[in-house]
Amino acid sequence: MNNDWSPKSWRKKNALHMPNYTNDHELKKTLLDISKYPPLVFAGEARLLKQKLAEVSIGNAFLLQGGDCAESFADFHPDNIRDTFKVILQMAVVLTFGASCPVVKVGRIAGQFAKPRSSATEIINDIELESYKGDIINGIDFNEKDRNPDPKRLKQAYNQSAATLNLLRAFSQGGFANLSKIHQWNLNFVKDENATKFREISSRIDECLSFMEACGINGNSVRQLNETDFFTSHEALLLQYEEALTRVDSTSGKWYDVSAHMLWVGDRTKQIDGAHIEFLKGIENPIGIKVGPTTKTDELLKILDKLNPLNEPGKITLICRMGHEKVSGILPKIINKVHNSGKSVVWTCDPMHGNTIKSNTGFKTRPLKDIISEIQQFFQIHKTEGTYPGGVHLEMTGQDVTECMGGLQEITDEDLKNRYHTYCDPRLNASQSLELAFLLSDYLKDEKLFSKKSSNL
Ligand code: PEP
Ligand code: CO
Repeated sequence: MNNDWSPKSWRKKNALHMPNYTNDHELKKTLLDISKYPPLVFAGEARLLKQKLAEVSIGNAFLLQGGDCAESFADFHPDNIRDTFKVILQMAVVLTFGASCPVVKVGRIAGQFAKPRSSATEIINDIELESYKGDIINGIDFNEKDRNPDPKRLKQAYNQSAATLNLLRAFSQGGFANLSKIHQWNLNFVKDENATKFREISSRIDECLSFMEACGINGNSVRQLNETDFFTSHEALLLQYEEALTRVDSTSGKWYDVSAHMLWVGDRTKQIDGAHIEFLKGIENPIGIKVGPTTKTDELLKILDKLNPLNEPGKITLICRMGHEKVSGILPKIINKVHNSGKSVVWTCDPMHGNTIKSNTGFKTRPLKDIISEIQQFFQIHKTEGTYPGGVHLEMTGQDVTECMGGLQEITDEDLKNRYHTYCDPRLNASQSLELAFLLSDYLKDEKLFSKKSSNL
């Protein structure tokens, strides 16, 4: 164990994007209470995820990570959890077929509450208040009471995460994740006349399932067809909360942050000497690092040394979010240097955060065509570099929202106002998410054919 590290050693470093709590006594009392609450996840589960990500790092599996940009207290409802889980499962089936390999499913869920904001304060009609920083910190309504960081919110976030995880565990193991049922939902999706181009993939999956059924392989005979592994993740931004949920695992004697299986550090808080990297360096969980267009590769290599000194496969996922216009100019050099350094990483593409624009109608939005373009380029770059495009990281929901433009429903800038519900960034809706999965399935098929061919040379 790292001797100069403790869950609170980050407090000696500069911590960006943290709230200014005014009630210190209440904050301390709340954190003490939370530090005694039960773990939300178990260290053994985080170890299992790390093993699965190690398989992704060598091209034997694919990572699908997705969920809300920001979870909220107001939208906490079992139907919302069910619908997001359902669409992730539907996508995973299509991707498994395309990639001919397991898909590791990780939700941005059950803890994704704290948000870094481009500006610490917001001014409306000459009134300046703290920006909204996520429901675990303050409220979205523009008034002093709501915008003041409130320690009580920490417990509400913990409780909501616990109840969300409880439902996700039930869905994963209780029959909801039955493969034939998921496939049936996908068949319903491709019935839509706009989705006919995806019918061929669905009918090929159908054939495989009928063949397996004829051989007696079904949910009754094979546990894996009826259940699934589902993991949780969020940005480790609010370090006081993460500290309170960091515990020594009795099996390994090592520190785990038991607030989620995987934690990631945001693009804005990954300074090598900053508090967030200091916190993450001491925990054993798999860690994601957002890699934006201003990333300096030499600094990234130093961060990798700090967070993964033993170069453990599966420990680090680099979540690249360059934007469709910049990715081809920037990413190849980063991949090349990291690859040549011999450091083991999972490469994934977040095609959301570099592709945010303001619509003519005044909404923060993302055109699906730009999202697709960044993913396509990501695959192409990896093909050229001889590395493996290991996954995608999406902001998405199972709800029929109108936040991103385009897709089979042809959502225009005029449509955005109809169902624009996000608490922070615009998400793909269920139909756009599935469309993306079908397209990705095709790229993955190419990728597998290409890597088979190269290994036969
Ligand atoms: C996010 O994932 O919601 C986020 C804030 O991303 P980034 O750190 O990449 O800007
Ligand atoms: Co976001």
